[in-house]
Amino acid sequence: MNTDQNNETRQRQAEAATPILDDTAGANEDISAAYDKQIYTSNAFPFTSPGHLRAAAHLYGLNSVPLAQARVLELGCAGGGNLLPFALAYPQAQVLGVDLSAVQVAQGQQVIDALGVKNLRLQAMSLTDITPDFGQFDYIIAHGVFSWVPPEVREAMMRIVRDNLSPLGLGYISYNTYPGWKAGDIVRDAMLLHSHSAQTDEDKLASAKAMLRLLSGGIAQTNPLAPSLRAAVAQLEKHSDYYIAHEYLELFNNPCYLLEFASMAEQHDLVHVGDSEPNIELSVTYGQNVQLNHSLVALGQPRVLRQQYLDFAVGRNFRKSLLVRGDRTEQILIGPDLERLADLRWAAYFIEAPLDEATSEGMTVFRNHQNKLLYTRDTLVIQVVKALSSAWPVSLNFDTLLTARTNATI
Ligand SMILES: C[S@@+](CC[C@H](N)C(=O)[O-])C[C@H]1O[C@@H](n2cnc3c(N)ncnc32)[C@H](O)[C@@H]1O
Repeated sequence: MNTDQNNETRQRQAEAATPILDDTAGANEDISAAYDKQIYTSNAFPFTSPGHLRAAAHLYGLNSVPLAQARVLELGCAGGGNLLPFALAYPQAQVLGVDLSAVQVAQGQQVIDALGVKNLRLQAMSLTDITPDFGQFDYIIAHGVFSWVPPEVREAMMRIVRDNLSPLGLGYISYNTYPGWKAGDIVRDAMLLHSHSAQTDEDKLASAKAMLRLLSGGIAQTNPLAPSLRAAVAQLEKHSDYYIAHEYLELFNNPCYLLEFASMAEQHDLVHVGDSEPNIELSVTYGQNVQLNHSLVALGQPRVLRQQYLDFAVGRNFRKSLLVRGDRTEQILIGPDLERLADLRWAAYFIEAPLDEATSEGMTVFRNHQNKLLYTRDTLVIQVVKALSSAWPVSLNFDTLLTARTNATI
């Protein structure tokens, strides 16, 4: 090919790329306008915090960077609420959040300044503008973003984890997954259909919610999907209007299978490690039948395929994936190693709850900070819970916990 032909080819390629870039820019504008208008409550999610990711990675056999001076980047950080507890706990760490919505970033930065937090900064920008020279980070976190952005932004997220992660760094991306979201897709399609001509956000939400009535009370007995749809609607009805608007009525909501996510990671020279809550990857968590059948069908299969099978058994609709650089593949264990729990520090706070009618003889009930109940008649569990609760908020190492639990009174 001569130079002219080369130039022509390049020009054609550039022209072909332009509409995609325009689309992304347009989509980014729509997304930032939506979040500027309807501000996202910027919460902290403990399972995304660097300390939690480091502990989870340890169970999967991976070393990571100590927290005290870690460099942390959050993509789509909204008002920085997820970064604030970490930045306060580790004043020598360097923490940066980026988000498209200038309004959310400004609000978050105001809170940070008012608290006098010096090691946390928020930046209003599109993550697609992040390049390798933006810096290296030991933890890159993106919670609740991947499924809600156009494909080019998803690509950019993978690229950033590849290019901006330090050698021992941990990436975290959460996303909606199939098969659990199949029913959710139908509910979302129906809600979008009924609300498509609404002129205001309020009307859109009202129309969308009207559709929920058809899919619950109005669903035909003969509809083969009725149980799944009813369950999806019942789940949705527990949430606020604000959640419904963001989770179901956003411009983009693209769930994917774990296998698709892992393969996209691989294309970016990253490797999928496992969920940031490793207990969800253990088939025993879902009972003996699941454990037995899963072990039969998954026998000898690669790690990620075993997990995809488990997602089918469980009907998983959300994943919180840890990613590392591709050159660490050999270091990852086939599954979380529970022996390694003994290397971690332990902290928990429970109060003993009054016995209810459902409680059988000899059972003790504890309630945690999320109002979740723990029923047990196992003396060892009771001792551990009591030892941890009386030490709270101090954490204990495994040996101290073993000693403390023998002193705990039952
Ligand atoms: C569903 S919210 C999640 C916010 C927060 N991570 C959480 O879980 O609470 C998605 C966030 O991603 C941001 N976002 C979407 N596209 C983005 C982009 N291209 N660059 C940076 N942030 C983006 C939105 O502005 C919004 O704050």
